[in-house]
Amino acid sequence: MAVLNIRKAGDMVLKKKAEPVVRIDRKIKQLLDDMSQTMYHADGVGLAAPQVGVSQRIIVIDVGEGLIELINPVITASEGSLISMEGCLSVPGIYGDVERCTTVTVEGFDRHRKKVRISATDLLAKALQHEIDHLEGILFIELAKTIHKEQKS
Ligand code: NI
Repeated sequence: MAVLNIRKAGDMVLKKKAEPVVRIDRKIKQLLDDMSQTMYHADGVGLAAPQVGVSQRIIVIDVGEGLIELINPVITASEGSLISMEGCLSVPGIYGDVERCTTVTVEGFDRHRKKVRISATDLLAKALQHEIDHLEGILFIELAKTIHKEQKS
C-alpha cells in the first residue's frame, strides 16, 4: 500500500468527468487500498480517485462507521435538503456551506464485483454526494453558498 499525492484545486484532473471502471482487477484493488490509506493518512472522511490523479469512478469513505469502497457509484434516490459545512482534501483550509440531500440511496460495486446498495443519511449521505460530485468534476466550492477560510491561530 502507498500514500498517494492528493491533487489540489487547479489540477485539471479534478475538473474532468471520470470514466466508469470496466473491469475490477488487481490494479483497481491496489488503487482502492492506496486510496483508503491516503484518506486515513490525510485524516479525511472520503476520497475520490480523481483526487489521486486517476480519472475513474471509484470512491472510498469512512465517516467513523467503517470503510466503504464503491466502484461506479450512482445515486438512485434522494430526499430532503440540508445546508451544512464541508471541506475537501483537495481544497485545504477552505470550508463552505453546501446544500445537499438529507437522504440518498447509492448503488455501485465492491471490490469483489458484488453489487451494493447503501441508504444513507446525515454525514454519510453528505460524504457520498461530495465524493460522487468529484467523479463529475465538481468541487464543493462551486456549490457553496458561503466560503470560510480557516483562521490560523
Ligand atoms: Ni472532496
